[in-house]
Amino acid sequence: MSSILIKNGTLVTMDSANPIVRGDLLISGSRIAELGNTSQSADVVIDASECAVIPGFVQTHIHLCQTLFRGAADDLALIDWLKQRVWPMEAAHSPASLRASARLGIAELIKGGTTCALTMETVNHTSEVFRVVEETGFRATVGKCMMDKGAEVPQALQEQTAQSIEESLALLDQWHGTADGRIRYCFAPRFAISCTRELLERVGELARERGVMIHTHASENRTECALVEEETGLRNINYLDSLGVSGRHVALAHCIHLSNDEIRILKRTGTHVVHCPSSNLKLGSGIAPVTKLLEEGISVSLGADGAPCNNRLDMFTEMRTAALLQKALHGPEVLAAERVLRMATIDGARALGLEAEVGSLEVGKRADVAVVMLDRLHLAPEADVVSSLVYAATASDVQSVIIDGREVMRDRTLLTLDETEVIAEANGQSELLMGRTGLTAD
Ligand code: GUN
Ligand code: ZN
Repeated sequence: MSSILIKNGTLVTMDSANPIVRGDLLISGSRIAELGNTSQSADVVIDASECAVIPGFVQTHIHLCQTLFRGAADDLALIDWLKQRVWPMEAAHSPASLRASARLGIAELIKGGTTCALTMETVNHTSEVFRVVEETGFRATVGKCMMDKGAEVPQALQEQTAQSIEESLALLDQWHGTADGRIRYCFAPRFAISCTRELLERVGELARERGVMIHTHASENRTECALVEEETGLRNINYLDSLGVSGRHVALAHCIHLSNDEIRILKRTGTHVVHCPSSNLKLGSGIAPVTKLLEEGISVSLGADGAPCNNRLDMFTEMRTAALLQKALHGPEVLAAERVLRMATIDGARALGLEAEVGSLEVGKRADVAVVMLDRLHLAPEADVVSSLVYAATASDVQSVIIDGREVMRDRTLLTLDETEVIAEANGQSELLMGRTGLTAD
């Protein structure tokens, strides 16, 4: 069994009993074997004497299929952004462009210390994304986007209810639990206004029967909320709950515009909220009531959302932005750095139902680890390591990344992807895709 020894680091464990210790972390096979000081040797030794060693970030809302659209849908509000730019571009995806998009996204995520993601893909070609996850060694819960309703939806994204469910089930059967559990499936209905009541209800039943998650968008934008209420007579979260789309296996991206009753539903059902601060600001969607949700004991984790509404896929950006936003609203005492770091790691793992496997550095857990350089100008002088990580560090401070006990980045060089090739492929496929849409890049 291969082994990796990370020597002499500041171990930010995110384990509630013993959060920060100085020492070594030994990985044997895919799991963490020892924490603290070890006399063991290993096949690979990483010197972390000037580094923080942290659980890899868990990115709980992203669209790998949209990475290729970075910079091609700026400065629009959600519904125009979707109808004018994102849906036509998703409709134009070929298997090759989707593959390029997923590779670009995963390369960026790994370079920024993210080891695991919950991703909503597009309607077509989702197998390509699973294959990229498999090849790159990344950990992901992936869902094919479901869209069986809606106005101004390009034909290539319009689905029949039964066919959408059939395709989702086929992908679930093929991929869920593969690569020794590294790859998982989730149902991914796009949002209430893209889905029929029948589809949402069936997804609610099937997710419980098959033991998989549901990942959808909810209450992101005022127009979206008004449309749902107009069509159903219910507020968005009430509507989803009435159809069985709530519970500990459900992760709702955004949840900005919530009534007190909707907050009570989230709390009662244990539904997870995924906060996407950069996306919410850039699309002008609003600011989620994160402080209130946390006070209520509701699970809140972090997401970058897709590249065209951020335009970074970087957990450092999301941690800092999440904290600063709540401080602007409620004062500097709220959402302390340690709380935000939990949202980016162990709470993200919990949202994915993976808290027993990843999200903290503990013996027996899967070895998903990021090594972050601290001997940097913008991190000096050495202060509180958690403060450095949340408020000052950037993605380019990540030195090495390990997923499931496998090195995927060493000294900032990706090992399962060729960075130059990924960029060239993204440029080439983006040009072809934009040509197919008939849209211009801006
Ligand atoms: N709501 C429905 N689809 C999307 C999407 O692709 N991105 C975001 N941010 N919100 C959505
Ligand atoms: Zn999204």
